[in-house]
Amino acid sequence: MLSNQLRPRRLRSSFNMRNLIRENSLSTNDFIYPLFVVAGERIRKEIPSMPGCFHLSVDEAVKTAELVAALGIPGVEIFGLPEYKDEIGSGAWDPQSPVQRAIKAIKKAVPELLVVGDVCLCQYTSHGHCGQLNGNCIDNDKTLPLLAKVAVSQAEAGADIIAPSDMMDGRIAFLRAALDDKGFNDTILMSYTVKYASGYYGPFRDAADSTPQFGDRSTYQMDPANSREALKEVELDLDEGADIIMVKPALAYLDVVKSVRAACTRPIAVYNVSGEYSMVKAAALNGWIDEKRVVLESLLSMKRAGADIIITYHALDAARWLNE
Ligand code: PBG
Ligand code: ZN
Repeated sequence: MLSNQLRPRRLRSSFNMRNLIRENSLSTNDFIYPLFVVAGERIRKEIPSMPGCFHLSVDEAVKTAELVAALGIPGVEIFGLPEYKDEIGSGAWDPQSPVQRAIKAIKKAVPELLVVGDVCLCQYTSHGHCGQLNGNCIDNDKTLPLLAKVAVSQAEAGADIIAPSDMMDGRIAFLRAALDDKGFNDTILMSYTVKYASGYYGPFRDAADSTPQFGDRSTYQMDPANSREALKEVELDLDEGADIIMVKPALAYLDVVKSVRAACTRPIAVYNVSGEYSMVKAAALNGWIDEKRVVLESLLSMKRAGADIIITYHALDAARWLNE
């Protein structure tokens, strides 16, 4: 009996056998760690909705960036809380804003660490939307030149990678042209190509004070019910010149990651967003799950689905565990 039968358990029989046939792996090289920078000095204030994440003044952000590099993580992504908001979000391209100052200071202190600038207006507009208003509508084409100002100001501060998260149509081609025009031909565009209108952004909006003051983002971010539409967004961004394609959120959209992987040869990033992070943290703090196991298993699932890059608030912990 069973003599001719393939027994999958043979290949699971020992530690080394499992290591030998493993299909996917996680490495510290896979991660980008997001940082929230604020004005002031010596500020390191824990974000209530995201335990283990902090609002950092620029000096503290530099210290964290040094730690990130020491752990073997290739990059950080910078988000900022501005000192002022207005109708058009002009703080987003102010060279004295915390984001621009942090980019400059981190590139000076740790030149080899990749710095990603998140390009959007929602943290900077009084209404909390990602674009310029025309009545109660978000005006796509009026927003593009504003995003270009943000991208150029971050490139001037030294950002290696520009990551537009606004979801306006045509912004990749527009930003590519604006960057090239200023001589930033080598600045990389990592597009938030497939970004869903998600409830999982809740903790981030508390952290970044970017909740829309009226309505929601469903006229520009994608409907969670759609997957073919993701491939249409990918096609457009490939055409417009995105260097890296992103899918966001990650865990609830791994099917989308897999289909995007099949549709494109450019590197794919996934954004393991704030709500995904905070749910795991809350369960871990209650002693309901084994945090290390669950985090590493979730991050590995993103690699298995086809991601090359994982933007995650778990990056520091995961790197420590992987370096053990
Ligand atoms: C803003 C932006 C958001 C995130 C990154 N950039 C939220 C939003 O669209 O409201 C979400 C990140 C997270 O939840 O971790 N354009
Ligand atoms: Zn936004």
